[in-house]
Amino acid sequence: MTLTQVPHHIAIVMDGNGRWANKRFLPRIAGHKQGVDSLKRCAKACDARGVRVLTVFAFSSENWQRPAEEVSGLMELFAFALGREVAELKADGVQLRFIGDRQGLAPKVLRGIESAEATTAQNTRLVLNVCFNYGGRWDIVQAAARLCQQGLAVTEAHLNQTMSLSHVPDPDLVIRTGGEQRISNFLLWQSAYSEFFFSDLLWPDFDESALEAAIESFAQRQRRFGKTSEQVDANPPAKE
Ligand code: FPP
Repeated sequence: MTLTQVPHHIAIVMDGNGRWANKRFLPRIAGHKQGVDSLKRCAKACDARGVRVLTVFAFSSENWQRPAEEVSGLMELFAFALGREVAELKADGVQLRFIGDRQGLAPKVLRGIESAEATTAQNTRLVLNVCFNYGGRWDIVQAAARLCQQGLAVTEAHLNQTMSLSHVPDPDLVIRTGGEQRISNFLLWQSAYSEFFFSDLLWPDFDESALEAAIESFAQRQRRFGKTSEQVDANPPAKE
């Protein structure tokens, strides 16, 4: 069997913040705050492990349906965390990108997003894509609509160039924490050939050793991209 390399691009559904807080009789927002710390730890561990792109699902198009208090708490946390973390992210060589629909976001959040992107734009060590007000269906629809506006045919190549993650290769590994095994409208287009890893850990508990377990699992997989294993064995993918 061909052993694959460390994933170049890991994408994560960071699920379980609410349950982490509930278990401690804390408000749900306390779980989200802990989730930010877990994300920082995970980004550092990815960098140390040689992962070059990390994409995380921070707020879905559907999350607006949560109780107003949780939505506003998440927006506040998001703006606050951006302000607090951007200098360290810049120093660590992280390029921040925000993926999703920016219409309807509060001016404070928009300003934070634009400033964080501008501040870290020259960094090349790790690309951190934060999917915010994002949905996989939204992404496909916005790309198709833009192609129509430009009078371009809806082909796979044109869509690839127009999707919101066109600046990075597709994720090699998609991780979901929190014990659920579903995609929840995340990276529907880009995960066509991703490997999946589901962890029962709640996102705030997902630490370096949990990431290592996911990478180890990935390393045992043979990615065939529709071919047979004999074909892949005869022509293994080049190592980086
Ligand atoms: C899912 O857990 C998590 C979210 C909807 C929000 C994730 C957001 C963060 C970790 C903060 C990110 C912040 C920045 C600055 C990028 P859940 O609430 O659905 O948990 P549950 O399933 O236990 O209820």
